[in-house]
Amino acid sequence: MLPDLPIQPDFSLLRFNSFGLDAVARAYLHVTDPAMLDQVRLDPVLASMPRLVLGGGSNLLLTRDPEGLVLHMGNQGIAIVGGDARQILVRAAAGESWHGLVQWTLAQGIGGLENLSLIPGSVGAAPIQNIGAYGVEVGTLIDSVRYFDFETGATVTLNRAGCEFGYRDSIFKRRLAGRAVIVDVTFALPLPWQPNLQYAELRQALAQGTSTSDAASALPDAAAISAAVVAIRTRKLPDPAQIGNAGSFFKNPVVPASLHAQLAMQHPGLVAFAQADGSFKLAAGWLIDQCGWKGRSLGQAGVYEKQALVLVNRGGATGAEVLHLARMIKADVRSRFGVSLEAEPVII
Ligand code: EPU
Repeated sequence: MLPDLPIQPDFSLLRFNSFGLDAVARAYLHVTDPAMLDQVRLDPVLASMPRLVLGGGSNLLLTRDPEGLVLHMGNQGIAIVGGDARQILVRAAAGESWHGLVQWTLAQGIGGLENLSLIPGSVGAAPIQNIGAYGVEVGTLIDSVRYFDFETGATVTLNRAGCEFGYRDSIFKRRLAGRAVIVDVTFALPLPWQPNLQYAELRQALAQGTSTSDAASALPDAAAISAAVVAIRTRKLPDPAQIGNAGSFFKNPVVPASLHAQLAMQHPGLVAFAQADGSFKLAAGWLIDQCGWKGRSLGQAGVYEKQALVLVNRGGATGAEVLHLARMIKADVRSRFGVSLEAEPVII
């Protein structure tokens, strides 16, 4: 017999969302073992409740108390589970911290995840929005994802192609939304390790961190790249432990070449990156910056001084205030550039 589930009523989520918003879960369960998910599914009362699955809470805007049951993934464990001459396979439980996993791999001498250092959140959340930074998206390093299916009760393994990864997107945001709970993720880290230095700002940070005598000879190792990424992120992005935020609040909009050409003519400073399919990804931070929002506030919600793409809680903000600010920004960018911004975090 399985023990009763330790459901906690009226549980504050203040510490469990990086925006630092005060919301209360009517029912909260810390899921330390994936078997608990099946117990929830088989319990007639719990199974009928709306569900919110919480990872690190770093990609979430709570504008009100979530209804129903909050499932907070807390299962732990990281291990090397295989490999050959071409790759090392590392499996991590959904409840592990993302940056903790990056550090664990680096400590084992395994490279691959270093460009994704210091991204807040959990391992289980990483595939959902296909986290990415400094030229690397996590989907390219995923072998497979295991999830619990609330409809069938089965634990299903999806390979990389099955995850349908896109820019800040995956099948878990679409067809499997509300149904799949990620249990663990297996990463395929290629051998031999090769640095990914396509992001100009990362190359600059590495050059600055290297003394002139060995700058030309030494290629950085994975630990050095991780340190450079940590330095850039620390300089530009607010630490959620100090200032509540959820990273980039909007996705960088991808627009057709025709609209890009028109915008580039009207706005010579436009920051845009050509995509493989001929479209262009615009820097949403630049668009917001141009509308004069950087550093501004509405109530206790604000736009971060050093990065206009990041909305912050200046202390005691409500989720509704953050949402109001986001809507004002979106309207301004739309009327000035004719571009529609899409929010990145999950909005409750
Ligand atoms: N820019 C401005 N003003 C600003 C902010 C940005 O002019 O206030 C311009 C600059 O020219 C800058 C360019 O926009 O060069 C791009 O900015 P940055 O390099 O900071 O990257 P980003 O496009 O704002 C994206 C990701 C980040 C990721 C970085 C680094 C998205 C939505 N965001 O930000 O991811 O860390 O690239 O790769 O794709 C996140 O998703 O939460 C996140 C932080």
